[in-house]
Amino acid sequence: MLSDIERREIENELAHYPDKRAACVEALKVVQQHRSWVSDESLRDVAALLGMTPDELDGVATFYNLIFRKPVGRHVILVCNSVSCWLTGYDRVRGRLEERLGVRFGQTTSDGRFTLLPIVCLGACDHAPVMMIDRDTHGNLTPDGVEEILKKYT
Ligand code: FES
Repeated sequence: MLSDIERREIENELAHYPDKRAACVEALKVVQQHRSWVSDESLRDVAALLGMTPDELDGVATFYNLIFRKPVGRHVILVCNSVSCWLTGYDRVRGRLEERLGVRFGQTTSDGRFTLLPIVCLGACDHAPVMMIDRDTHGNLTPDGVEEILKKYT
């Protein structure tokens, strides 16, 4: 069930949109900020609040890969796999991340510290290859540099 705070924050978002349904991504973000992911139960509650069916809202949620429909680790690593990053070392960076963390894309480390996910262009192509951890963008990545960066996230 949505908390009072979640409900209030979603209702604040609704005030900015002419149609409740148009606020659906923002509403999902509210839930995710509080719970780190969006469970089926939360999704049903948000859908009811917005006058949508759970299936409609789930379609939106799964379209946006920054809405997490499964539990994630304490830190989410998003590795850009678009063209500029692809051309400048994405493969080596991804390989080192997978090797060090012991997970593949879509998986969470056994200690719950990191979830590793691909993402399309992060808009920082001039610093390719790029990844984002939580809200921090890291560019000009090298395999060794990635290891140093990981140490900052406990
Ligand atoms: Fe990776 Fe744009 S292609 S940030």
